[in-house]
Amino acid sequence: MFLKKFPPMGVYETLFKFQDATGHYMGDPGTRPWAQGFPLTTQLPGGPELPSSVEFDWQDLKYPSATGVQPLIEAIRDYYNHFYDAGIETENVAIFAGGRPGILASLLFLHDDIQVIIEETEYTPYYDKLKLLNRAHQIIPSNAENNFRPTIEDYHAARAAVGGRTLAIRSNPCNPTGVTWNGDDLKMLVDFASAGGHGAIIDEAYEFFNANGPTSALKYVDDINATDIFVIGAATKGLQVPGMRTGWVVASREHIEIFRNFSSIAMGGVSRPSQIYVTKLLELGRVEHARNAVVSFYNEQRDKYREALTECGIELSTGDGGFYHWGKLPGDLTADQFNERLFQHHAAILPGRLCDMYRRGDDGPHSQLIRFSFGPLLAETFDENIQIIQSCLESAECVS
Ligand SMILES: Cc1ncc(COP(=O)(O)O)c(C=O)c1O
Repeated sequence: MFLKKFPPMGVYETLFKFQDATGHYMGDPGTRPWAQGFPLTTQLPGGPELPSSVEFDWQDLKYPSATGVQPLIEAIRDYYNHFYDAGIETENVAIFAGGRPGILASLLFLHDDIQVIIEETEYTPYYDKLKLLNRAHQIIPSNAENNFRPTIEDYHAARAAVGGRTLAIRSNPCNPTGVTWNGDDLKMLVDFASAGGHGAIIDEAYEFFNANGPTSALKYVDDINATDIFVIGAATKGLQVPGMRTGWVVASREHIEIFRNFSSIAMGGVSRPSQIYVTKLLELGRVEHARNAVVSFYNEQRDKYREALTECGIELSTGDGGFYHWGKLPGDLTADQFNERLFQHHAAILPGRLCDMYRRGDDGPHSQLIRFSFGPLLAETFDENIQIIQSCLESAECVS
C-alpha cells in the first residue's frame, strides 16, 4: 500500500455503520437521516422554487476560470455588498467545489509558524484537516462547564497561550452546537481576527439558519484586503443545493491569488453548470425570499424539536442557529448505544464524540452527547420522529 491510511470524516463513519446495520444508505427514502448535515432540497413552505434544470451552451463546456466564472463571482460580490455592506470586489472571491475544499485550501498554505486556535466542540472535519496537515493547534474550552459558549476572552486567553501568530477557526452558527455570534459578539470576533499578525477562518455555511436572521462577519470587516480573514460560504445549506458542490472563500486579493494558483495546479476550477445554477439562486430578489423562508421554517422546527427533545429527557445546550440540536442523553446511555437502538428504526444521530476536537472517544466527556439534525426533515414527520426517540430512550418521562 503506497498511500497513508486515514479514517473517513465522522459523519461518514456513522453513515457507513448505518449501512452495515440496516443495509440502507442514510438519506434514502424510508431512512431517518438525523445524523446528516443536509437541508431539505425541496421548496420550503413560503420559499422560492428550486430550478429543476440548468441551461448552458458550448461555451460553457470550456474550462472555467480558476477562481470561478464571472457571473457567479459577481453575484457573490453583489450578495455580500447588498446584505452586509461588505465593500468587496470580485477579486475577493474564489469558488470551490463546496465549503470543505475552501476550508482545506485556507489551511493548506498557512505559514509554518502560525498556530490554529479552535473551540473544543466543533465541526467534525476540522479535526481531520488539522491532523492531516499536521497543524499545531490550541484548544479553547467549549464543554458542559461553559455550556458550550466560550467568550471572546477565551479566544484572547488561547492567543496569549500561543504567544505567536494565530489563525482562529470557528463555524458561526456553530456546527454542532448552534451557538451563534451576532452583533457585538461577531464584531468582537472580527476585531480579534483583524489584529496584526492574526487571522481567522469564519465558516458561515449556516449563515441563513439564524434565529435572528442571517448574518455575516463581512458586515464588520472594514477592508478585507487589510486582513487575514477568510469567510467561508456555500450553496450547500441555505440555498439548499448540497449536490451542486459549490462553495466560496471571501478573502484579501492576495489570498485569492493563492487560491487561483492552487486551482490552476490542483483543481482546474469548478463545474460550469453548477456555477450557472448557483448564480441563478443568488439573484437578489430570489435570495432575499430564500433567506426569509429558511429563517421562518427552520426557526419553527428548532423550537418544536427543542421542546419535544427536552421533554424526552435530553438535556439540550443548543444555541440560536444551525439545524441541529446538541444535547446530553439521560441516564448513562451513550450516543453509540443510542444509535444501536435507532438503527432498528432506520434512524441515527451523530455521536457527539465526533465533534470533540480532542477526540477522546467513548470514554471522554462527549460520550453521551448527540447531534440531532432536523435539516433534512419534512415538518410532517415530527410526531413519528419523536415517537422513535422516545421509544429508544430508557427514560419514561417523554410525553411527545
Ligand atoms: C460547519 C460547516 N462548514 C462547511 C460545510 C460545507 O460543506 P460542503 O463542503 O458540503 O459545502 C458544512 C457542511 O456540513 C458545515 O457543517
